[in-house]
Amino acid sequence: KHKVIYDTDPGVDDAMALLFQVRHPDIELLGVTSVFGNGTIETTTRNALYLTGKFAPHVPVARGAGAPLVREAPGPLPFIHGHNGVGDIALPADDQLGGTLDPRPAHRFIIDTVRAHPGEVTLLAVGPMTNLALALAEAPDIAGLVKQVVIMGGAFGFHGILGNVSPAAEANIFNDPHAADQIFNAAWPLAIVGLDVTERTIMNAAYLADLRDAGAADGQFLWDVSRVYHAFHLSSEGLDGIFTHDASAVAYLVRPDLYTTRSGPVRVLTDGLAIGQTIQKPSTMPVPNPAWDGRPAISVCIDVNAPGVLDLYRATI
Ligand code: BDR
Ligand code: CA
Repeated sequence: KHKVIYDTDPGVDDAMALLFQVRHPDIELLGVTSVFGNGTIETTTRNALYLTGKFAPHVPVARGAGAPLVREAPGPLPFIHGHNGVGDIALPADDQLGGTLDPRPAHRFIIDTVRAHPGEVTLLAVGPMTNLALALAEAPDIAGLVKQVVIMGGAFGFHGILGNVSPAAEANIFNDPHAADQIFNAAWPLAIVGLDVTERTIMNAAYLADLRDAGAADGQFLWDVSRVYHAFHLSSEGLDGIFTHDASAVAYLVRPDLYTTRSGPVRVLTDGLAIGQTIQKPSTMPVPNPAWDGRPAISVCIDVNAPGVLDLYRATI
């Protein structure tokens, strides 16, 4: 089983990815850590408590960073994930959420949990990478202790895809580019599941309706939570369906054979017009360049068996 700490900013697709993990037999969730992003840290922590309370009440939630390391917080975009961050579904009162709040800050929870299970923990990060960067800064030894890090973020221009919140940047990286650049420079095995594959794995309207009809209470929840998100994709992209962002990171973890990767160091632009852009130097490129050379090789997903991922998600639910 993969022992997972799920670092997340719920978020509609974050919620869909959480349920995927809870239902997948090869995943053991050790904890959920919240981070700002799709909502404020108050909103995303509340949503993490709600989601774990509903689906995994014994999994602790640790509250994480409310702002990026250096840049000013860009601020949530409520028209994407709804005003409450989870598609404007009805939520219980704050004292009835049912989840378990850990007293530690997220980065401390990450450090303690990784040290308690040396070589075993996967960090699955699908929001801004701030908590991971804080954990790494406070305890650099965790780089040698984690099993692996899998992140949803970035875009590398395969299939013409470069960004979603700007023409050059993907949201999770854009929200804290300094944190991303730091975690891409740590000596831990890291894989990036970015827009190049997540935007090519589409849950269309028929797929979502089938999930609803075949997936019992889970299916109905996935339908309800994704209405605002679906409408956003329709109005902004003309897409009658949704991109599979955060759940793709889960799919990569349990079925890496569904993805093609390219290895090499990755840098993030931390200022300027293209702030948040991710650029990989392929390990096959012989020309020296000090900005990339000497940094660790990262596996970047460049292609995906999308029907395979969609079948896996459906079968798991
Ligand atoms: C990523 O940004 C967030 O809005 C989503 O939850 C996903 O993690 C996609 O760019
Ligand atoms: Ca997310």
